[in-house]
Amino acid sequence: MNREKKILRQTLSNRIVHWMTALSIFALIISGLGQLPLYKRYFVTSLPGAEWLGDYFSTLVMHYIGAIGLLFIIFYHMVLHVIKKEFDIWPKKGDLKQSFLIIKAMMTKGKEPESDKYLAEQRLAYLFIGISTMLLVITGIIKMVKNLPGMQIPYEVIFWSAQIHNFATIFLILGIVGHLAAFIFKENRALLPGMFTGYVKEEYAKHRHSLWYNKLHPKAKQECNIREIREKAN
Ligand code: HEM
Ligand code: HEM
Repeated sequence: MNREKKILRQTLSNRIVHWMTALSIFALIISGLGQLPLYKRYFVTSLPGAEWLGDYFSTLVMHYIGAIGLLFIIFYHMVLHVIKKEFDIWPKKGDLKQSFLIIKAMMTKGKEPESDKYLAEQRLAYLFIGISTMLLVITGIIKMVKNLPGMQIPYEVIFWSAQIHNFATIFLILGIVGHLAAFIFKENRALLPGMFTGYVKEEYAKHRHSLWYNKLHPKAKQECNIREIREKAN
């Protein structure tokens, strides 16, 4: 039996936000690429069960459903964390340098700097994915308004919205690929159960996210300090 102690890392609310974001973004990418239209050109539509990908109205409806899901979950996420004053994942000064040190330590099996709830590169990944998503939301809304009958929007605004919507799609796809590639490193894989069950191994949190762990268990920190002082004295 696995008796290893676990601690709660991701609340149900956080997990719902993560998976609803992922689901709506996957739907938006698949349907958005259909509107470009890429699937007919590259014969994807000739695969069994994939004809609908070439149907403009099917992918348009899917895009709008994905957009409604994404807007809803972004609104919930922002309001919730502002009300609760939870900004653990918001980037901090020095994150670039610290990310470099963490990646270097992973490659060379060296010692990592102490981390809070999120590693510096996770905070940067959040910012990168967040900016790309917000650009898509803003330009997407402009494109949607343009589609409404009787709307007059200046040509430049339409042109730049379309350009930014397409480029932000590329950045977001790269961001997601990078996000998933992070799990190639064994050290990062310990975070995976957290996004499914909510729990990660206590030992992992203690050694890798020690600043966060010590905030959750101030007593453990005191004991650790006392042990260190005793060890030095002996
Ligand atoms: C559209 C797809 C996805 C998006 C936009 C997305 C976005 C994010 C963001 C912004 C974070 C916080 C920053 C970070 O930890 O790097 C995160 C964390 C995470 N994601 Fe994703 N994600 C997606 C798909 C996935 C998938 C498919 C998996 C699992 C295979 C996954 C597993 C995780 C895990 C384990 C964490 C770390 C949570 C922690 O630190 O406890 N994500 N995701
Ligand atoms: C992850 C987020 C998103 C991705 C990856 C994405 C991707 C795309 C792509 C590749 C296109 C095709 C380019 C074009 O027809 O000009 C497109 C079109 C469009 N997108 Fe998005 N999009 C996203 C979010 C949104 C959101 C949040 C909205 C609305 C609030 C939106 C509204 C639209 C509209 C209205 C069109 C044009 C449909 C048409 O008239 O043909 N998108 N999107």
